[in-house]
Amino acid sequence: MSGYGNIIQHQIYSQPSVEKEEQYPVAFEDWEKLAREKLKDGPFWYVAGGAGSGETMKANRDAFTKQKIQPRMLNDVDERDLSVTLFGQTFQTPILLAPVGVQSIVHDQGELASAKAASNMNIPYITSTASSYTMEEIADVIGEGPRWYQLYWGKDEDVTASMLHRAKRAGYTALVVTLDTPILGWREKDLEQAYLPFLQGIGIANYLSDPMFCSKLEKSPQEDRRAAIEYFFKIFSNARLTWSDLAFLRKHWDLPIILKGIIHPRDAELALQYGVDGIIVSNHGGRQVDGEISTLDALESICHVIGGKIPVLLDSGIRRGSDVVKASALGASAVLLGRPFVYGLAVGGEEGVKHAIRNIIADTDLTLALSGRNSIKNLDRSLLSNVPDAQSTVRSESL
Ligand code: FNR
Repeated sequence: MSGYGNIIQHQIYSQPSVEKEEQYPVAFEDWEKLAREKLKDGPFWYVAGGAGSGETMKANRDAFTKQKIQPRMLNDVDERDLSVTLFGQTFQTPILLAPVGVQSIVHDQGELASAKAASNMNIPYITSTASSYTMEEIADVIGEGPRWYQLYWGKDEDVTASMLHRAKRAGYTALVVTLDTPILGWREKDLEQAYLPFLQGIGIANYLSDPMFCSKLEKSPQEDRRAAIEYFFKIFSNARLTWSDLAFLRKHWDLPIILKGIIHPRDAELALQYGVDGIIVSNHGGRQVDGEISTLDALESICHVIGGKIPVLLDSGIRRGSDVVKASALGASAVLLGRPFVYGLAVGGEEGVKHAIRNIIADTDLTLALSGRNSIKNLDRSLLSNVPDAQSTVRSESL
């Protein structure tokens, strides 16, 4: 995807005739503002809100702001390479769409629209267990495009096994196991409005369509929807899981397993010990624990432990190309976008998602070039200045 940034930039500059109202936003903040205008309080805050006071969401952003790029000059950056290889597959960019459930609360086409946009751009789409459409419907629109399946690892082993087999049949090539949600975080905005889409039966399509899930009900979900929703709540998550339970997943899934929600170096060590294939450094976009360490601050020590043995991906707070570049410089093999594409979906459905992703890729390409580098996968810490040290040097020199 060499020169992608220049192409997109040129496209945008050469369409000044498009009416302002018809243009999609450029800045993340403007996508969020437009989404706010489109959505009712419940859905908007379900997306925008975080755990408790929102401290973790803020920390995620502050960590990116704290890191500063120190560009190099005269380095021939005419040709750039944004590609990364993950689990034997090469992707043109280091960007994936994070698993996001209940997308129909922001757009009626929900996951179908965002998965289509991702597939058209050859960006891996990660289907959430909590999707509003079934994993098979989503796989259908993805067609030949890359796709992974995200598991919310619940209490009913039969249902979990059934979902893994369905995911394999539907062509998902990796399993993302989300570990940071054994229970739902204390989300003040959702609590204030008593808004939880699952209670209305939104985001449980994968359960209602699962033969094993249905076999556990006295009546079919069509006959007794309330009972089906109740059973979903009963089995959705499992706070009793421990590392040794990973063997169960291995028994039912023979493709790569990636643990999402690793934030402590010791857990990274355990991930290696238990033989998983990759990890995602994530704090769920600050939606689970208030006052948690940011993912960017946690990344370096985790990469140190992993020592390049397996890919280390990162999400939570990626908003612009410079964030992608900074995360890559600190060791991330690739990054996941959450809210940026969800706001794109809310604002413009499939087209909105396409524009939101396209802008971040273009920005990444240009930022890489302007940093004096031409390959995202070859970035390292030397791209970043160490501002606190630089300041202390200045201080000590002036003494
Ligand atoms: C999420 N996230 C999430 N994660 C997951 O593993 N399964 C899921 O179903 C969901 N659902 C979900 C819904 C909504 C509305 C949001 C905003 C997030 C977390 C997601 O995968 C990712 O970790 C964060 O969104 C990344 O942070 P940013 O980019 O949103 O800051």
